[in-house]
Amino acid sequence: MSDHLNVVDHPLVQHKLTIMRDVATPTAVFRQLLREISQLLAYEVTRGLAMTTKRINTPMAEMDAPTLAGKKLALISILRAGNGLLDGVLELIPSARVGFVGLYRDEETLQPVQYYFKVPEGLDDRLVIAVDPMLATGNSSVAAIDLLKQAGATNIRFLCLLAAPEGIARMKEAHPDVPIVTAAVDERLNEVGYIVPGLGDAGDRMFGTK
Ligand code: URA
Repeated sequence: MSDHLNVVDHPLVQHKLTIMRDVATPTAVFRQLLREISQLLAYEVTRGLAMTTKRINTPMAEMDAPTLAGKKLALISILRAGNGLLDGVLELIPSARVGFVGLYRDEETLQPVQYYFKVPEGLDDRLVIAVDPMLATGNSSVAAIDLLKQAGATNIRFLCLLAAPEGIARMKEAHPDVPIVTAAVDERLNEVGYIVPGLGDAGDRMFGTK
């Protein structure tokens, strides 16, 4: 994947995203749509994965058939909202290894504070896909990717649902080697770091905590 920013403008993704944005959409529907959309986004974020072939027998003939090459990829959920994307992606790539980075946002400084870090071994040999639905200020995404690089990751992609221009710029400055895949780029951040028009607090909407 060579572009730094990849916007998935597929009609199904855009249609589902509109329903998710709607404040009237209930938690259960929001969660189901997030699962569906995460699989469509997973399709894009895994584009261009390294391939090899293996010799197999079909009922008709022998053939060298394409198969994924290399070590199992690693999916890293940036807690807690990342889990909403993780489930669907994992369904599509069931043998992926899974890690978690726990960061919460200090609501006054908007800076990320780490409270959990557990990732698969051998990150240096894996494609690492970090997932977090909202790329807002970019502070927590940049911090999470800093931690993944410290843990050895060299081949990282970032998957989100919505991105703000501010977050994209911050990621590009800090991690120009990490391509971003998103369903949409919104207008701006508000004064407390929420994406506008956005969809509100992704964690609250998927878990029904508000
Ligand atoms: N996190 C969210 O859940 N929503 C935003 O708009 C920004 C950060």
